[in-house]
Parts: sequence; C-alpha cells; structure tokens
Amino acid sequence: MSPFSLTRTLPVDTTSAALRADVADGLTRTSKQLPPKWFYDARGSELFDRITELPEYYPTRAEREILIERAPDIAATTAARTLIELGSGSSEKTRYLLRALPQLHSYVPVDVSDSALRQAGEGLLAEHPTLHVHALVADFQEGLELPDTPGPRLLAFLGSTIGNLLPPERNRFLTAVADLLEPGDALLLGTDLVKDEATLVAAYDDAQGVTAEFNKNVLAVLNRELGADFDPADFDHVAVWDPAQEWIEMRLRARAALTVKFPSMDLAVHFSAGEELRTEVSAKFRQESVRTELAAAGLALRQWWTDREGRFALSLAVPA
Ligand code: SAH
Ligand code: AVI
Repeated sequence: MSPFSLTRTLPVDTTSAALRADVADGLTRTSKQLPPKWFYDARGSELFDRITELPEYYPTRAEREILIERAPDIAATTAARTLIELGSGSSEKTRYLLRALPQLHSYVPVDVSDSALRQAGEGLLAEHPTLHVHALVADFQEGLELPDTPGPRLLAFLGSTIGNLLPPERNRFLTAVADLLEPGDALLLGTDLVKDEATLVAAYDDAQGVTAEFNKNVLAVLNRELGADFDPADFDHVAVWDPAQEWIEMRLRARAALTVKFPSMDLAVHFSAGEELRTEVSAKFRQESVRTELAAAGLALRQWWTDREGRFALSLAVPA
C-alpha cells in the first residue's frame, strides 16, 4: 500500500449544496454572514500561510514555541500511534509532534483544502518515509469517518481554529470529538488567549494587507463557484474586537450601495453603503473558559501549557 492516500468525503464541486445553502441563508439575513471555511481554496490556503509569517500574526509563532518545548511531554503522556489532525493546513507545526513520536504508525490530516493536504503530504513523506499518511478531504464539523488505525490516538486541533466556530458550534464539535475518543486517546487543543485590543486588532489587520486579501478571497470563491459578480474593490476589510464576546470579527464593508447577482441561484443580494458582511469570528480564550467548554462536552483538561509571553495555550484533554 502507498504510504500516502487521499480520501474525499466532500464533493469535488464546491458549488455543492453546502455553499449554496450558506449563501442562501447567510446573505439574505439582516446581518449578513458567511462561515469562514469558504476562505480556503488553493489561493486562500496560500494566503493563510503568508499570514502565519506576518510580524503582527503572533499565534503561529507562539504555538510553535509551545510545541517545540512540550512535544516530548506530549509524546510521553499519550504514547500515540495515530495522530489525527483537524484543519491541518500546511501541517507545518505538526512536524514537531511527528519528530517527537517515533512510535507513530499513522498520520491522518483532515482539511477542506485538498491543495493544502497534497502539498503537506509530499513534504511529510520526504521526512518520514515509513509513516502511513491517510489524508481526508472533509468538513470537521460533519460526522468524521476515520480510517482504522492503531491506538492510542492523539487528535490535534491546532492554530486556535476552534475559535472560528461559534459557541454552540464549539459545543457540538467538542461533543463529537469526545464521542470519537476512546479511553487512552487524547485531544491536543490550541487556543489563542484574550489580550490587549491593539495586539489583537493588528494581528487581523496587518500593515501589508495580506489579511485583507485573505478576507476578500471569499468573494473570489463566490464568483468562481457560483458565478457571482462581486468586485473585491467595492469592499473594505474590517477587523474589530468585541469585548463582550471576547472575539475578533472580520467583516467586509461595502464602500457604496451595490447589488450582487448569483445567476446560478436566481438570487440578487443588495448591500447598502457601509453595510457589512461578517466573514469570520476568531474567539479568544481563558483557561477557565477552555476547561468549562471541554467539561461541557465530556472532556477533562489534564495539561495547560502557554508560551513564555502567555499569548497562546495548548491543552491536553482526555475523555472524562
Ligand atoms: N492548523 C494549521 C492551519 C490553520 S488554518 C495551523 O495551525 O496553522 C485553518 C485550516 O482549517 C485551513 O487549512 C482550512 O482549510 C481548515 N478548515 C477550516 N474550516 C474547516 C472545516 N469546517 N473542515 C475542515 N477543515 C477546515
Ligand atoms: C485559522 N484561524 C485560527 C485563523 C484565525 O486567526 O482566526 C484564521 C485567520 N483569520 C485571519 N487571520 C487568520
């Protein structure tokens, strides 16, 4: 058997029912919104990778610092033989886990972006030629069908991607994760932490405008997949901190009144001048909020590690 396999549970055609349903629902509301998973076509994945290298975007560097320091502890505590990673993207930080887990049999990266999975797979196999890599093109919010691989299993969800889910979605997601885990398995969860507003806003509104381009990429996805006629130049990138919800919102604000057509859906969407479309929330966490959300899903927090500046945390949790 080849050490790399790619299985797709999402339709190749992203004009699937899911995208149409999200547009039909999210763009016809009084407060327009779209789920952030639609950012990540090949261009969106590439732009996200550029974001991780920006001086303002500290989360990737902070999480990498923790992984480098704690990978040996994680390996010793979990003795994982299978590493499942949700929203794995480039798998760049995962390398520190893979190097610390010499007994690992299988790596199962799961992502909606097949371009990211393919690129990451090539790099990983060059470094770990005997590792079984079962890549899954799938939505981690839908029922996951995991390959049959040896336990114990470590399920990693890094980058604070959990913060891109709304609170009820997080509860559903964590409950599904708890159902997947067997005794002896563990969850490794990355969460960005609440901090001062200036640092947070800068991380989502960088000086070079890469995050603005990433945000507007969703409009290119809608144009390509649904034949919409958005002009990205008609919108401004907006990043705001909501202190009550403790999350950053990314929005696209219409510079003037306009109407966008979706001919394939027989839909026309009107924006008034200054009207905003919410494209992402990025929630920030505290140790107690993480512990409480895990417990509500039947998971017990066992370890909590932060980077030296206390910006980001990695949690290790087990079925309660
Ligand atoms: N884990 C990496 C990448 C984070 S970017 C890191 O820490 O740097 C978020 C990743 O999750 C992207 O690769 C995106 O394609 C993927 N993603 C977002 N929503 C998803 C969903 N619903 N199902 C599966 N993958 C998703
Ligand atoms: C993937 N996710 C955790 C990123 C975040 O920080 O919320 C996505 C992102 N959005 C803007 N910049 C990065």
